[in-house]
Amino acid sequence: MGNYKIALIPGDGIGPEVISPAVDVLVALADKFGHSFTYIPLEAGGCAVDRYGKPLPEGVLETVRECHALLLGAVGGPKWDTLPGNRRPEQALLALRKGLGVFANLRPAILLPQLRDACPLKEAILAGPPADNSPKGRTGTAAGFDLLIVRELTGGLYFGRRGRSAGGNSAFDTETYSRKEIDRVLRVGFDAARRRRRKVTVVDKANVLESSRLWREVAKDVMQEYPDITTDFLYVDNAAMQLISSPGQFDVIITSNLFGDILSDEASVLTGSIGMLPSASLGPGGEAGSRFGIYEPIHGSAPDIANKDMANPLGTILSAAMMLRYSLGLEQEALTVERAVNAVLDSGLRTADIARRDKTTGGQNERLVGTGEMGAAVIRALN
Ligand code: IPM
Ligand code: MG
Repeated sequence: MGNYKIALIPGDGIGPEVISPAVDVLVALADKFGHSFTYIPLEAGGCAVDRYGKPLPEGVLETVRECHALLLGAVGGPKWDTLPGNRRPEQALLALRKGLGVFANLRPAILLPQLRDACPLKEAILAGPPADNSPKGRTGTAAGFDLLIVRELTGGLYFGRRGRSAGGNSAFDTETYSRKEIDRVLRVGFDAARRRRRKVTVVDKANVLESSRLWREVAKDVMQEYPDITTDFLYVDNAAMQLISSPGQFDVIITSNLFGDILSDEASVLTGSIGMLPSASLGPGGEAGSRFGIYEPIHGSAPDIANKDMANPLGTILSAAMMLRYSLGLEQEALTVERAVNAVLDSGLRTADIARRDKTTGGQNERLVGTGEMGAAVIRALN
């Protein structure tokens, strides 16, 4: 039995629609396990621009700091796309990440057997050839992939000096990384690999970029402390290609802010739907299970389907599971949520994004449901 404070930022577009079922799941779970969760709803993103004239209103950061974790829906939308850079909704996200010091962004991408048909890759690519480190028990067409991208989140190009010169006709953004910034995110990735299949791929562009050469240097030091982990290095262009030509080779990918942003979107589409994918952004460690974190689905605000009861809430529900694991230290509870999601998929329920596009190839036991019904089904499946 524990008392936990959870900040909620539903945000824009489908954000509120996916946060709501995720909170319902947490409420049911707290009840089941006898925990007390207090929810602190806050505004940030485009809705805050509309109401307060800025994406991250005064006091929000401070309030979140007093919580164990932040569960976030999504921010942004076309309505705010023409605002100057510092007033765009995305700025709230960047300021929260930086202000809360969540430097390690974990983005798992798993091909679930139930969604195999939704993966755009050919069966021959999914089936193999199995890499040496492929998940245990892989045989024949069962292979698929199960990888984790660890993206550096508070440094690099997204936070470097930027500006214009030559009277506005020239623009620059800078990639700066310190040894310390690289070292700490590498360790999060290597530690994660220890709980998985013990393989790390460090992705950089060390054939061109000086910052990447420092990444490699630091990685070669850190890997000495993880002799049980197989480490290799890939240039980002090659990694982008390998992700679609042989995704099964990857276990943990560790990379910079920019490269992680791009590769995680690429990986997400391989899973069949970006709507399924959770993420955790972790701050400096204390004990295992007590790191502050921001938890959010990676899909974004999807304004085109907002308020239509069409959004897939599973990415957010799975993000809440990651929160239970990493920030609240509630492993059993996290597993309970993950098992419930699995059971619901097994039972054939599908939101539009994960429904089989071609009904002639199967999917007889599938039933198309909306956001609310999917959330309710997960709650029923908690046991
Ligand atoms: C993400 C998003 C954000 C990022 C944007 C909205 C600033 O693309 O979380 O991947 O680039 O980090
Ligand atoms: Mg992105």
